[in-house]
Amino acid sequence: MVVYLSCSLQMKMLVILMALMTFQSTISYSPCRSNYCPPIPEKERIIVGREFPLKNVGFVEHGCHCRQHLNIYTICFNFKDRAIPCQRFPTNVKVLTSILILKSTFITEIVRGDFDNLKNVEDMTIDGNQKLLNIQPFVFQNMTKLTTLSFIFNPSLLSLHPDTFQGLVNLKELNLVKNGLHSIQQLSVTLKANILPKLYKLNLNENVFKNISEFDFQPMEGSSLEELNMILCGIEHIHPRSLKPLKKLAALRIGENRIDFDLLFDMLHESLDIGIDLQLLDLSSSGFRTYKHRSLFEIVAKSNISSLILARNQFDVLDNETFPFFMPNLISLDLTDVSAQSINDQAFTNLPNLRTLILAKNKLSFFGASKQLPKLTYLDLESNTDVFGGEFFLTRSEFKEMRLEYLSLENTRLILLIRTDFGNLPHLRILNLKKCDILKIENHTLEGLQKLKVLNLEDNRIFRTWEMFHLEMFKGLGNLEEIFLGGNDITTLTTTSGYLLKHLVNLKYLGLRKNSIQRISHRDFATLKQLRVVDISENYLLAWDSRVFLNNNIEKLDVSVNKIAYLSGAMLRDFQNLTYIKSIIIRLFVTVESKMRWVQIK
Ligand SMILES: *[C@@H]1O[C@H](CO)[C@@H](O)[C@H](O)[C@H]1NC(C)=O
Ligand SMILES: *[C@@H]1O[C@H](CO)[C@@H](O)[C@H](O)[C@H]1NC(C)=O
Ligand SMILES: *[C@@H]1O[C@H](CO)[C@@H](O)[C@H](O)[C@H]1NC(C)=O
Ligand SMILES: *[C@@H]1O[C@H](CO)[C@@H](O)[C@H](O)[C@H]1NC(C)=O
Ligand SMILES: *[C@@H]1O[C@H](CO)[C@@H](O)[C@H](O)[C@H]1NC(C)=O
Ligand SMILES: *[C@@H]1O[C@H](CO)[C@@H](O)[C@H](O)[C@H]1NC(C)=O
Repeated sequence: MVVYLSCSLQMKMLVILMALMTFQSTISYSPCRSNYCPPIPEKERIIVGREFPLKNVGFVEHGCHCRQHLNIYTICFNFKDRAIPCQRFPTNVKVLTSILILKSTFITEIVRGDFDNLKNVEDMTIDGNQKLLNIQPFVFQNMTKLTTLSFIFNPSLLSLHPDTFQGLVNLKELNLVKNGLHSIQQLSVTLKANILPKLYKLNLNENVFKNISEFDFQPMEGSSLEELNMILCGIEHIHPRSLKPLKKLAALRIGENRIDFDLLFDMLHESLDIGIDLQLLDLSSSGFRTYKHRSLFEIVAKSNISSLILARNQFDVLDNETFPFFMPNLISLDLTDVSAQSINDQAFTNLPNLRTLILAKNKLSFFGASKQLPKLTYLDLESNTDVFGGEFFLTRSEFKEMRLEYLSLENTRLILLIRTDFGNLPHLRILNLKKCDILKIENHTLEGLQKLKVLNLEDNRIFRTWEMFHLEMFKGLGNLEEIFLGGNDITTLTTTSGYLLKHLVNLKYLGLRKNSIQRISHRDFATLKQLRVVDISENYLLAWDSRVFLNNNIEKLDVSVNKIAYLSGAMLRDFQNLTYIKSIIIRLFVTVESKMRWVQIK
């Protein structure tokens, strides 16, 4: 899961989706029991936002600089001056946050005692330290609260002392990604069950481990490990019984390696026979082709695997022979970028319990299996057409036969949306139509989406035709809470056609960035009593002289990158109750208003 520490409004959609995903991706890999099962993403590295002012928390010590971002994280890095590089951990830093990031320093060694003052840190990332060669044993000894530890892209780090992780009694997640580690055997000695009694996730992606032999994981016997990731590790050989010591393993991500199919199948067979009850299997980019590798599905069919990731293999035609075995346990299937050109209506008959299906980055012109997926709630069809004319046919896709709660068609060409395209989708909560080249949404098209909460229409061209044909695009969306209308060349929210947003009476979030709006008035928002957040950045907005947010109780407003030349009394009154505002001329404003908790100066 991506941890977005930046709270920019543009990220809101993602954050919402992530929040929905977090809902399901709990610590253990038991199959999803609710009817809504989004994919379980692999946790990615922390993205450090530079949006907000950083507070210094450590003066420059050994050329290292430490700053605190709100109350969320502390980051220590190499100070600009290369003459005094950051070569040792700055032990004087006062870390008040639970997250600490040590990034892009010239530290060569982490010395015992360096981390003794970090008793309250729960999540620590050591990222991009090119020169880091050695970590002394017992350095984490006093960090008993640490639950997540990440060493990412420290290419000089070739090995670890057996006592490196002593003391991390609460560590749950260890990411050792893209370092110079090359021996599983050496590593597993550091990860013994008595050293890391709570370890449940180990991520070893992007190291090079050519050969994994029978006893490499032996030192981890008795480990509580549930998830093991070894994506892109150059693995050529894996002993069929190598996973035997990892009895609790439930999730295995082993895609993008060079393991021979027979060897891989042997290993999976053996692991299941030994009693390793896999729930999630990631074999992305492993060279599988339609029809050729039936044994894979034979293995999945006899297992309890509920989530199967086969992205970037070759399944050009999905028909009644693609999944030849009955797989009632399969709940989530990821077929991203498998060159799929067509789906036969019988393709998924052996997967009666599928709830999540990802078909992004394929070449489908319609979805032909709507009738065979009675339980599907999450469907991702992003990026299925190219820019050279291909079009995706919604009406032929017959989504109305389904119980979808989430549908994404982002970056798939739709052009015209008509009444029969979606029909009645009474369960749909999130619809993503970003960048679909939509020119027109006819009357009644969205009326059957009574439960829709989030609608993304960013980067289309819907405004001209709305105005020209007097359309009522959003009629029926009385439950909608968030709408994203950025990049649609909207010039005004009110025309002779009426008020664009009138029907969205429950709207809380309104995204209008990157349009061409000059003026707004209180009539534009008159029916939006629940409105809390408005992003109208990157428009041509002028200062306004009479109240706009008269009947609303908005909390956050982004009016940055506009043509506002002065602040009127009406604007000040509009801003009175805001907890957040982003604007160019806010500097003036800060002295006037004391109620605001934090202010962004751009
Ligand atoms: C760290 O832990 C060791 C062993 O438990 C203890 O002797 C030492 O005093 C601790 N150091 C600090 C700074 O708390
Ligand atoms: C892998 O390593 C084991 C143990 O070191 C060795 O016996 C085996 O021959 C190696 N296999 C390959 C294919 O290199
Ligand atoms: C699948 O789960 C069932 C019930 O929990 C269990 O009895 C069975 O052994 C599991 N199958 C495998 C292959 O682990
Ligand atoms: C798949 O469909 C084809 C053509 O409709 C049919 O000939 C074939 O027997 C089917 N295969 C299976 C496994 O049902
Ligand atoms: C769409 O509906 C509105 C309001 O009912 C109506 O005024 C308009 O003429 C309709 N547009 C079309 C193209 O049918
Ligand atoms: C600000 O909030 C107070 C208390 O909730 C309310 O009475 C007042 O009308 C609000 N002012 C504006 C400008 O919305």
